[in-house]
Amino acid sequence: MGYTPTDTIWFNGKLVPWADATVHVLAHGLQYGTGVFEGMKSYPTADGPAIFRLDAHLERFYKSAELYDIAIPYSQHTIAEASLEVVRANKLDASYLRPVAFFDAGTLSVWTKECPVTVAIAAVPTGKYLADADNGVRVTVSPIRKFDNSAIPAWAKACGQYINSARAVNEAQKRGFDEALLLNSQGLVAEGSGENLFVVKDGALVTNDKDASILMGVTRASILDIAKDLCIQATVSPISVEDVLGADELFFTGTAVEVTAIREVDGRVMSGGKPGPITRRIQDTYNQAVRGQLPQYRHWLSFVRQLVGKEVRA
Ligand SMILES: Cc1ncc(COP(=O)(O)O)c(C=O)c1O
Repeated sequence: MGYTPTDTIWFNGKLVPWADATVHVLAHGLQYGTGVFEGMKSYPTADGPAIFRLDAHLERFYKSAELYDIAIPYSQHTIAEASLEVVRANKLDASYLRPVAFFDAGTLSVWTKECPVTVAIAAVPTGKYLADADNGVRVTVSPIRKFDNSAIPAWAKACGQYINSARAVNEAQKRGFDEALLLNSQGLVAEGSGENLFVVKDGALVTNDKDASILMGVTRASILDIAKDLCIQATVSPISVEDVLGADELFFTGTAVEVTAIREVDGRVMSGGKPGPITRRIQDTYNQAVRGQLPQYRHWLSFVRQLVGKEVRA
């Protein structure tokens, strides 16, 4: 997902020109990965652009920061308003937003107490995350394991932990796949390098949770709600490699990939090599929900035209 630069980035409290949103090379977050971030999207709706599940993303942002003692020097309300402002100021419609908070330059020690916290929010026009995702993607079970919760809690979205994801997806792409499926330390399936996994079997969904060393995805939670509304049974339980290989359908969820079918696992063709019927149903509902086309999900949208970043109840 390359990006097209926009005019401004919110940087430590104000909008600055894109090229001026820079940090020192000794930033602790760069040296040691001590930062947290979010990935959110705005979508076009009949009432102008809206950010999908802004509040849920920012709740995770603050929880992730708390885990690493990163005291974000702005309230969640300020960051919500700033996120809407970045979309508005750059005249964006469909966009990908990247809030980040990290320990800035101040020490070369591993401890962080001398470091100020820098906060930025950038937004760029949305691009496709995985190539040819509309027809489903090809994945491989990665030889690189997901880090264990006992070392780094996977529910928090911290910058440094993505070295594990980057290694796994790079390795998968070198072998010609689109994405990696990482196993956890118990040998059960964790997730993709940047997505949660759903298995479809006999018309019902299965997805794993926190105990499997996964990021607790906002999209995952939304899909569980959508499944309930569509009367599709969904179970939260561990997923084995056998469950994956024996699935009727498989799909990834995530802000970047939305709902993306998996059409092949290590050369084994899944659901006839195309998105299956349950995946399609969930995908269609999600795609309408994010665009404000379904009244029951409008409370998930924060409209950019509003000055207060509160989710609007339909
Ligand atoms: C490792 C990982 N798992 C899952 C997800 C999906 O999370 P969300 O639905 O909140 O975007 C992401 C993306 O943020 C991720 O990076």
